[in-house]
Amino acid sequence: EAENSLRPRRLSEYIGQNKVKETIDIFIRAARERDEALDHVLLFGPPGLGKTTLANIIANELGVSIKITSGPAVERPGDLAAILTNLGPGDVLFIDEIHRLNRSVEEILYPAMEDYALDIIIGKGPGARSIRLELPRFTLIGATTRAGLLTSPLRDRFGVISRLDYYRLEDLVEIINRASDILKVRTDNAGAREIARRSRGTPRVANRLLKRVRDYAQIKADGVIDARVAAEALHFFEVDALGLDKTDQRLLLAIIEKFNGGPVGLDTISAAVGEEADTIEDVYEPYLMQLGLLTRTPRGRIATAMAYRHLDIPGPEKD
Ligand code: ADE
Repeated sequence: EAENSLRPRRLSEYIGQNKVKETIDIFIRAARERDEALDHVLLFGPPGLGKTTLANIIANELGVSIKITSGPAVERPGDLAAILTNLGPGDVLFIDEIHRLNRSVEEILYPAMEDYALDIIIGKGPGARSIRLELPRFTLIGATTRAGLLTSPLRDRFGVISRLDYYRLEDLVEIINRASDILKVRTDNAGAREIARRSRGTPRVANRLLKRVRDYAQIKADGVIDARVAAEALHFFEVDALGLDKTDQRLLLAIIEKFNGGPVGLDTISAAVGEEADTIEDVYEPYLMQLGLLTRTPRGRIATAMAYRHLDIPGPEKD
C-alpha cells in the first residue's frame, strides 16, 4: 500500500522527534552490543505522530520480528498468552492503544514483562495450581495517546518512556518533500510549506493532504504543487489556514455559540457536536490547545479570544 511506502524503515530516515530518536538510538545500540533484548518501551503522544512507525523501525534496527496488536484486540488472557508464546528471542511485541487492555489481560503482562514468565492457572477450586512457563526475552513496545491513561503498575514496568510531540514546521516540510519524491509529484518549497502549515503538526495529516493536493493539482492545474495550487486545493477541501477541518470548527463554534464561549464540560460538547468524547479529547483538543484556541479548566473547556478571532466572531462580552 502507498501509505506504507511513505513510512521510513530506518531510524536515519525518520525525520524530526530528535530527542526521542537519539534516545532510542542509544538503547538500540547498547542492546545490540550486549546481544540482549531492548528494554520495554512506552511511546505516548497524539495520534498520527509515528508511534507505529517507530515501533517498526526499532524492530528493523534490532534485526528482529515484530508482532503487532492493540489493546482492544486482545480480549482475553488466553489471547495474550498465545501471542507471547509465539515470540522468538529478542522479538518486538507492539501493543497499540495499550491503555485499553482488560485488567485480566494486563495482569498476564506484568510477569511477562518483568520475569519473561507466563503464569498459567490450571484447574479450579482447592485443586487449582499455577504453573510458570518461561518466555523468550522480548521487547514490549506500548503506544498510547496519554501516559496518564496507563495504570501505574503497567507504566512502571517500562524501562524507556518517550513522548512524541507535534512536529516542527521545518520537519513537516522535509517529510512532505520526502513523500513528494516517493510519490513522484513535483512540490516546490513554498508548496510544501503551505501544506505543512496546515498539517496539525502531524505527518499522517501532512501525507494525506499531500495526496489530496496532488489530485487537485493534476486535474485543476499542471500537476506541480506550488503555494498557489496548495492554498487553492486546501481551501477547496475545507482545511483552513491553521489546518482546522470542519469538525474542529464545529467544536469551537459550539462552545462559542451554544455555551457562550464556555466553560463547558466535555460530555456536553460531545453531545452538541455528535462526536465521541474520547475522540474529542485525544484527537481534536490537543491540537486546538496547542494552537491556543482552547483551554481546559476545572470547570470545563473555554474558547479563547484567539478562537473568536480565528473564526471571525466578535469577542466574548465577559472580557
Ligand atoms: N512519514 C511519516 N512520518 C515520518 C517521519 N517522522 N519521518 C519521515 N517520514 C515520515
